[in-house]
Amino acid sequence: MKYIVNLGIFVADAAFRAARLPKMGETILGNGFALGPGGKGSNQSVASAMAGGEVHFITRLGDDDFAAMARGVWARAGVTPEVTVDRDSFTGAAMIFLEDATGNNAIIVTPGAANRITPADVEARAGLIERAALFMTQLEQPIPAARRGLEIARAAGVTTILNPAPAAALPDDMLALCDYLTPNESEAEALTGLPVTTIAEARAAAEALRAKGVGAVVITLGDKGALYHDGRVTLHSPVLSAGKVVDTTGAGDAFNGGFAVALAEGQAIEQALRFASATAGISVTRPGTAGAMPSRAEIEALL
Ligand code: RIB
Ligand code: NA
Repeated sequence: MKYIVNLGIFVADAAFRAARLPKMGETILGNGFALGPGGKGSNQSVASAMAGGEVHFITRLGDDDFAAMARGVWARAGVTPEVTVDRDSFTGAAMIFLEDATGNNAIIVTPGAANRITPADVEARAGLIERAALFMTQLEQPIPAARRGLEIARAAGVTTILNPAPAAALPDDMLALCDYLTPNESEAEALTGLPVTTIAEARAAAEALRAKGVGAVVITLGDKGALYHDGRVTLHSPVLSAGKVVDTTGAGDAFNGGFAVALAEGQAIEQALRFASATAGISVTRPGTAGAMPSRAEIEALL
């Protein structure tokens, strides 16, 4: 089977649940805590592998307990690590605040060793990328590394997905390397300067991104689903609900990981969006990020 290459970061997610965020200088009592695997690229890789994809994940780790956590979750999910170890750095961490009432989140992420990922790290895996079905990356590691991966994939005719998270300004010549760009609402706003709160506004933002050279745009809209636009076809994919929402952290990663598998398998775009929505729809019914990703059987049961 043709494989997926993902470039990104792993961090340990320290998730705290409380009624509200503390104010600066204030201490409040929380009512839940969990430590587990996170980082957008790693979460997406785990989602893809659990959804039936063959995945190679390029990153950097420290040599510490969180690195062991990374290797454990990848081994259980079946992700092949393509890792450089930096003994003089550390594996990163994210502080996640979960709001009781909504399951929504606010995050600070410190990439640690993954902040040292260079274009040369990516070039060292050029042969792997060139033979892949699909290359995908995000913006948690340095952007020059993401760009180099997209360039190598594009030159080899390999399908590219950029999940532009967290939000950052990107030059048009980098956007033009993306067959698929998958921002959420706020990332689409940051990239276009347009408001993105409704499906109609998402469509206008997608057109603006297409004008910058993106092939196809998928804007994830939380409980409003996802909007796809490729210049010819516009599709709206509703959320596929799998039960009560307990934690939306990593829902975008589930969506992207599922989407990548569906595209790598050659599924038609309608089916690929539905497969991605099912992957995300199940993930939000479970606490955590990488640990919330569904199996292929669970996805197919919801489709
Ligand atoms: O997308 C969710 C992820 O973003 C979390 O796992 C956290 O680590 C941050 O990187
Ligand atoms: Na979750």
